Amino acid sequence: MEGLLVVFSYSILFAFVSASSRNFPIIPFDEGYSPLFGDSNLVIHRDGESVHLSLDERTGSGFVSHDLYLHGYFSASIKLPADYTAGVVVAFYMSNGDMYQNNHDEIDFEFLGNIRGKNWRIQTNVYGNGSTNIGREERYGLWFDPTDDFHQYSISWTDSQIIFYVDNVPIREVTRTESMGGDFPSKAMTLYATIWDASDWATNGGKYRVNYKYAPYVAEFSDLVLHGCAVDPIEQVGKCENDEKNTGSGVTPAQRMKMENFRKKHMTYSYCYDRVRYKAPPSECVINSQEAERLRKFDPVTFGSGRHHGKRHRHTRGSHTEAASSSF
Ligand SMILES: *[C@@H]1O[C@H](CO)[C@@H](O)[C@H](O)[C@H]1NC(C)=O
Repeated sequence: MEGLLVVFSYSILFAFVSASSRNFPIIPFDEGYSPLFGDSNLVIHRDGESVHLSLDERTGSGFVSHDLYLHGYFSASIKLPADYTAGVVVAFYMSNGDMYQNNHDEIDFEFLGNIRGKNWRIQTNVYGNGSTNIGREERYGLWFDPTDDFHQYSISWTDSQIIFYVDNVPIREVTRTESMGGDFPSKAMTLYATIWDASDWATNGGKYRVNYKYAPYVAEFSDLVLHGCAVDPIEQVGKCENDEKNTGSGVTPAQRMKMENFRKKHMTYSYCYDRVRYKAPPSECVINSQEAERLRKFDPVTFGSGRHHGKRHRHTRGSHTEAASSSF
């Protein structure tokens, strides 16, 4: 009986995994994006569908979507630079910080480099309507080496839910609650990818800085999916009626099992359990004592200021409280 059940849930899982790639079109770079900064450090490959972003002593680099989107499914396959990458941050994120200086929204995947022999870490975060006084960071290890090959990182965003995926495994679900109020991202955003020098906070709170002896640091992007509701930047109205068509439905029970497994094994930090920053956990947090116990084993984190995703983001620089990662 139990065996049958396992077989059954695996087949559901399999069906959903193939559905959750969603067969959304991969768009050529030029159709969906423009270079943002770093001029020659952004290289578009001959197929027009893959892009290299590099960081050297002169500059990082980045690109941005042409359109603003209100909700959708956004995805990239990324291969991160190997070896010594302390202080290097690769970010794949949505933001409207250039349009709303005091009440911007943001949904982040941030990849934090590390010293040689230690793996990259992933951080996810959301801000809504300028909620930069409450960081909602989570950090995780991975079950693979993200420098060996391309892996798919995706964000699904509806008006009620944000789901972060790694290789189609949901790793985090942010469900809008009433008490979150405006803190849930709710205005149209553009999609960004950047690589930049975050020496001041990325690795052990700035203990290990970028070492340009190992430059250039190259992050490779391909399989870019922008499947959202494009919005008129002036009127801020989208032309899509049905969010679910753009993102698929939420997390299935079988996927939820995978998510819970992932989080048990690989999550190393959650703002919900950070008693140094939050005397009482923010209202949306559901506290689990086993999780609290498990997370206590990891180093406490240092939090500092000086957040930015690249040189072009002067508006948001310094306005956020940012997690400095303890890298091991
Ligand atoms: C967002 O912020 C603006 C400006 O601070 C405020 O007027 C508005 O009510 C906020 N919206 C929500 C949904 O909280």
